[in-house]
Amino acid sequence: MKPSRRQLFGYAGAAAAGAAVTGGAVVALDQPVPPPPASRLIDPYGDHQPGVAATSPRHAELVAFKLLPGTDKAALARLMRLWSADIVALGNGRPAPGDTAPELATSGVALTTTVGFGPRVFELAGQKAAGPDDLPVMRHDRLQNAWSGGDLLIVVGADDELSVVHAVRRLVADAKPFAVPAWRQTGFWNSTGPDGGAITGRNLFGQVDGTGNPAVGTPEFDATVWSADGGTTLVVRRVELNLDTWDELTRSEQERAVGRKLSTGAPLTGTAEHDELDLDARDPDGRPLIAANAHARLAHHSENDGRRIFRKGLNYVHDTGTTRESGLIFLSYQADITSQFFPLLARLDAADALNEWTTTIGSATFTIPPGLHPGGWIGQKLFS
Ligand code: HEM
Repeated sequence: MKPSRRQLFGYAGAAAAGAAVTGGAVVALDQPVPPPPASRLIDPYGDHQPGVAATSPRHAELVAFKLLPGTDKAALARLMRLWSADIVALGNGRPAPGDTAPELATSGVALTTTVGFGPRVFELAGQKAAGPDDLPVMRHDRLQNAWSGGDLLIVVGADDELSVVHAVRRLVADAKPFAVPAWRQTGFWNSTGPDGGAITGRNLFGQVDGTGNPAVGTPEFDATVWSADGGTTLVVRRVELNLDTWDELTRSEQERAVGRKLSTGAPLTGTAEHDELDLDARDPDGRPLIAANAHARLAHHSENDGRRIFRKGLNYVHDTGTTRESGLIFLSYQADITSQFFPLLARLDAADALNEWTTTIGSATFTIPPGLHPGGWIGQKLFS
């Protein structure tokens, strides 16, 4: 039942007498009120680039660069030294060297910058990239050059959009003599619940997205993500979501497409988000409760010879005049693209129920080199 205006007014009146009204909810002040999310600083140093395992940022920008014709191995090494100094300063909330807007550098916004190398970088360094140059085009793909490929990548994420935009501006400016943007994508994600605690975020279909990931800090995560040198690989796919046709489905049709509940993200065979999927469970008529073409079944490691990936989505909206395109910037980290990611992608392309409402319009793959240590720089091993 909707509260009447008088009741609402009554709640507001009660606020003055010892309760606070927050977004329609009433919180008694004698109960502990959760603090706002603490300001966070993510150490830019470490064996791995810290943005990979960090919680999905509230705001993120990805920029893929095309190397300018004169950029050789030595020039790339110069750019990596510049970027490394920027990344350490900005990550610590300090202006980058030569910062033209130093006041925009903010501390405590969990800013991370992750650098990736495309196949051309390995060519220039005289080495072979760990991953494939490109993924084969899938049957459902409608790839546009505008969102595909790239020689270098930066992924900048933070809890604050202004900090992201500022960091990207610095990194793009420092790259200018060496490389220019080939594409840019901006996304957002909410990993914080109403009480300030961590939650699995939702994509624009409304689905809880990220539950099946290996948990950061577990041996399973390390085995899934890190290659022997402490790096990883990243697949970036821009997936347009057809919200118009998705919205025509009933809720149970939407839930069947993934095999999980919209309310909590729990499997259709369970009650809590992190309950294991019961892929053998059947209804009284003998039909599987999690459909044969349900996304979570087809992608599940138990159905894929134990293959796992680490997914981090970012929602996007892209407005042109009066029209809006909505989608998911799908990011997948894994030690090896060929053996872990590609078989999953091919399987989903062949049979996934979600294909009806999703279209991949951009695709790119990058090698993510290991992390930075004081005195070192990104890609040092590759370019020295
Ligand atoms: C097309 C857009 C996509 C959407 C909207 C989407 C959405 C989802 C959702 C809602 C889940 C269930 C919750 C969860 O475990 O996170 C899920 C699971 C998963 N998805 Fe996707 N996904 C998409 C594309 C992909 C692609 C391209 C891949 C890999 C090639 C993939 C791999 C997985 C995996 C591995 C799981 C976990 C399955 C499990 O272990 O339970 N997804 N996805």
